[in-house]
Amino acid sequence: MKFENKIAIVTGAGAGMGRAIALRFATEGARVVLAEVNQESLDETLAATGGRGMAVRTDIANIGDIDELISRAVEAFGRIDILVNNAGVTKPLGFFEVTEADWDWMYSVNARGLFFCMQRAAREMVNQRAGKIVNIASIAGKGFPGTSNIAYAGTKGAVIAMTRIGASQLARYNINVNAICPGATRTNLFEMGIMEAVNKRKITREEAVRRMEATIPLGRSNSPDDIANMAAFLASSEADNITGQSFNVDGGLMWD
Ligand SMILES: NC(=O)c1ccc[n+]([C@@H]2O[C@H](COP(=O)([O-])OP(=O)(O)OC[C@H]3O[C@@H](n4cnc5c(N)ncnc54)[C@H](O)[C@@H]3O)[C@@H](O)[C@H]2O)c1
Repeated sequence: MKFENKIAIVTGAGAGMGRAIALRFATEGARVVLAEVNQESLDETLAATGGRGMAVRTDIANIGDIDELISRAVEAFGRIDILVNNAGVTKPLGFFEVTEADWDWMYSVNARGLFFCMQRAAREMVNQRAGKIVNIASIAGKGFPGTSNIAYAGTKGAVIAMTRIGASQLARYNINVNAICPGATRTNLFEMGIMEAVNKRKITREEAVRRMEATIPLGRSNSPDDIANMAAFLASSEADNITGQSFNVDGGLMWD
């Protein structure tokens, strides 16, 4: 098992990729600290971990909640080996539709919340002289034109930049920081994008999915497990000499 005796925090663990990552890590032997703003989905994921999870309701837009998350994890397990910064928000918006409130909302979770989770978890990892941080960015952060909106793409560009700077500033403490840039992945966020296409183009859901997948070289969108596979690799000792990288998992949509 990859994560025997490892303590892993996963943010946004109630649904989509975060849920898949938390369950994969638990199956591989980790004790998973589930950080999620939605109480109902948090409870559901906790039950699915089969006793390997600990739930801490957390809104990562709130720094007090992040501090509470880290202290509860350390209190329960004495250490933090892995942080997966997965929680993220967006909605479909045209260039002229983005408001200041939209901007603040997306940055408060995707960029600000993600950074302070990294900083607070890294404070613990520094004492251990070991740690793995995996940030979930997006191909939007590399300029993928099919992004949900421009501000969201900016938050994900910030994640890619912070992954590099975090990696360079934490390397001396033996902490690895890498990012995953998913392409279209079948989660609630994906459904939101598909329903946008359904309403705009007056087509069926099936047709919207078919048209979207036809643009992907390998011909399909990701399952959340495609992302969990990469997260499990990057959080494991197999990736000990990899840091500062942002890996696309997207069926070949983007090349850099
Ligand atoms: N689905 C895609 O196609 C896609 C593509 C590229 C990147 N991403 C990124 O992947 C990550 C996961 O997305 P997903 O598709 O699984 O989304 P999702 O909406 O299915 O799940 C996200 C989870 O994060 C939680 N969350 C939202 N705000 C939070 C907050 N402030 N604090 C704590 N938890 C919060 C939600 O309640 C939800 O359970 C996000 O960072 C997203 O931007 C998704």
